[in-house]
Amino acid sequence: MLTDELYRRFHTRCDRKPTMADTTFGPRGWTPERLGPQNDKTFLITGGNSGTGFEATRILLAKGARVVMLNRSTQRSEDAVARLKQELGDEAEVSFIRMDLADLASVRDAAAEVLRTLPGIDALICNAAIAQVPTQSFTVDGHESMLGTNHYGHFLLAGLLFERIEESEGRIVAVASLGYRMGIRTIQFDDMNWDANYHQNKTYSQSKLAQMMFAYELQDRLAAADKDVGVYVCHPGSSRTSLITTSGNLVTRIGFRLMSFSPMVQSAERGAYPEVMCATEDGLEARALYGPTGLNEWVGPVGKGTLESFAHDKAVMERLWELSEAETGFHWEL
Ligand SMILES: NC(=O)c1ccc[n+]([C@@H]2O[C@H](COP(=O)([O-])OP(=O)(O)OC[C@H]3O[C@@H](n4cnc5c(N)ncnc54)[C@H](OP(=O)(O)O)[C@@H]3O)[C@@H](O)[C@H]2O)c1
Repeated sequence: MLTDELYRRFHTRCDRKPTMADTTFGPRGWTPERLGPQNDKTFLITGGNSGTGFEATRILLAKGARVVMLNRSTQRSEDAVARLKQELGDEAEVSFIRMDLADLASVRDAAAEVLRTLPGIDALICNAAIAQVPTQSFTVDGHESMLGTNHYGHFLLAGLLFERIEESEGRIVAVASLGYRMGIRTIQFDDMNWDANYHQNKTYSQSKLAQMMFAYELQDRLAAADKDVGVYVCHPGSSRTSLITTSGNLVTRIGFRLMSFSPMVQSAERGAYPEVMCATEDGLEARALYGPTGLNEWVGPVGKGTLESFAHDKAVMERLWELSEAETGFHWEL
């Protein structure tokens, strides 16, 4: 195989039992055509300045919603706002708050700004991520960079905003990855920073699995506390974004770039459909993974896909929750 990553993707596909495609939304799957006016709704999205986050923002704005992006780069955020207003008109209600998920103090500051300025949150879409970082690196708080950014940052953000989301009877959407299947399929509690065996793919895989486990454990805690907040998990399949062309070592990047010209990769816009669906559609299931249901579940009509049971191993989810509270210094009242 061309790269370790491509090999793993292929290998994972061969391991899976074939499943029936979800037909809930018809042969074309979920598309934004199902989405009615969103004029009184407010959506928060992390990483809204590029890729699927940008496209999700565009779709929601086009339906009349207000979207606040939580982004780390001021310049890229200003450019994104300018592009969206140019396309959708000055009346498009889009703005950003600067937030670096790799710095928990920045997450706290951004959450405080959200609570100060937004009376309601209909959905928090946890979309931002880094992937396949070639060599071990760390967040400001000393966590392995992908675990810290993708999981701990969102764990803290969702916790700090939870009350406002609950008051709004809102939702939390975790944007995961099929990559959750490619690593060790559990959490490496004895070496969370991967000091002994850092690996760009396996370590990324664990960070996305951690995001999913957080969401599934949150569902359980909300159900036990009888709280009316929806939590849904999705992934964009294989989508043409800066993530797959800038992540990983040189060989991986070349592999992704070649693959991105093939029918195994879809547009960033289509990659955004699952997260917009999870933020808006009624009747979704909790213990599920939504995304493309076509070839390998990388592309195709959006619906409910395959979810492997190790992603909701209760003992691991509970242990991860406790560890995440300790590492972020945030205790959920759940
Ligand atoms: N593309 C795919 O095929 C694919 C496959 C599986 C899963 N996913 C998932 O899809 C989601 C969106 O990724 P994408 O493909 O759209 O990638 P992308 O185009 O690279 O977008 C990622 C976004 O995350 C932001 N981000 C990264 N680090 C951040 C930090 N420390 N603080 C705040 N924001 C940060 C980026 O901001 P900057 O502009 O500042 O870098 C960017 O806006 C991710 O959760 C990813 O894991 C993507």
